[in-house]
Amino acid sequence: MLRWTETMAVGVGELDAQHMRLITIYNKLGNILLSAARRDAKLEIVMELADYSLEHFKAEETLMEQAKFEGLEAHKKEHLSFKLTILDYHKRVGTNDPLAAPQLLNFLHKWIRKHICEVDALYAPALSGGGGDEGNDGDGGGDAAAAEQPQG
Ligand SMILES: [Fe+2]
Repeated sequence: MLRWTETMAVGVGELDAQHMRLITIYNKLGNILLSAARRDAKLEIVMELADYSLEHFKAEETLMEQAKFEGLEAHKKEHLSFKLTILDYHKRVGTNDPLAAPQLLNFLHKWIRKHICEVDALYAPALSGGGGDEGNDGDGGGDAAAAEQPQG
């Protein structure tokens, strides 16, 4: 089991929400892989995690590109390597390799924490500081130019 905590925050609401979802899928994957579920169900949850990860990586990479983050290429490599590893595990789950599930869970547990806390943390200053978070809380236009005179 993994739990998202504030120490994992990268300061971009959209990405933090995606990390939470990724952790939720990881926890679900753990439950299914360690259960007596059918192989199809196991393959399906591994694919769900792979698909969601790729979607999330794309979002991260787009934001890093927009922010002209200098660590983009190195970060992309981490994402690619993760993708290849997961697809390899997917294959192993498909062949009923008994070690695939525990090894995959172990890999994910370490990778997700390390990646969010150490690798994603590197882009946090560039992405959260460079603007882009307009009015996270509260709706309605915050019109700074409209100086309303307080009526006493
Ligand atoms: Fe990342």
